[in-house]
Amino acid sequence: MDAPGKAGGFFISFEGPEGGGKSTQIHRLAAALAEEGHVVWTTREPGGTRVGEMIRPLLLGAQQSRLSPWTEALLFTAARAELVADVIRPRLQRGEVVLCDRFSDSTLAYQGYGRGLNLETLRRLQAEATSSLAPDLTLLLNLPVEAGLARIPRSAQDRLDRETVAFHQRVHAGYEQMAAEDPRRWREVDATADPDEVARRVLEQASEALRQAGVHPAQRRSA
Ligand code: TMP
Repeated sequence: MDAPGKAGGFFISFEGPEGGGKSTQIHRLAAALAEEGHVVWTTREPGGTRVGEMIRPLLLGAQQSRLSPWTEALLFTAARAELVADVIRPRLQRGEVVLCDRFSDSTLAYQGYGRGLNLETLRRLQAEATSSLAPDLTLLLNLPVEAGLARIPRSAQDRLDRETVAFHQRVHAGYEQMAAEDPRRWREVDATADPDEVARRVLEQASEALRQAGVHPAQRRSA
């Protein structure tokens, strides 16, 4: 259930395995929606707040030594709790469209399906940390694991990119399972397509979801 104050805005998360071009696509969608007159805020995980940006290098620094799976899950979740309280919920309350590069589903995919932490425990943790905030729409930019990893030069790889292919396969399978279990919220976009085509499909999906929710440019959705 949504916590009070959620109504008004629209929350879109971008998810997917490595190398799917999420950051490029999220900025293209933000520009397209802003062009239509929506008030749009773009953010990313882990990060988006002062504390979150301090946590980010602990989690992603390629030189960082191994962290226990629970340290990882709790640090990602701590950064998210701050982002929700400080940025996402206030902006949704003001009626903005918030685009987030990864959200709770990343913890389920990577620390749950990937690392093997208990999914139910992780779900409860996410619900507590975010006051049960869930995206209105989640875009899964999907592509085969090897194709995605091959797109990231070694110098640009973070600590998680350097995990085994088997780990990334479990993450990928986890995403497909979550998307299949909740087709109302998830929309899959083929990230192997040409970036212009991906951008077109992303905009199509977002526009349809906004229309269905009754969110129009420069106008707030009534609760
Ligand atoms: P990226 O979004 O630039 O790919 O970097 C974020 C990395 O962190 C990516 O490998 C996925 C990983 N991650 C988790 O393992 N758990 C999480 O909860 C989040 C937000 C990201």
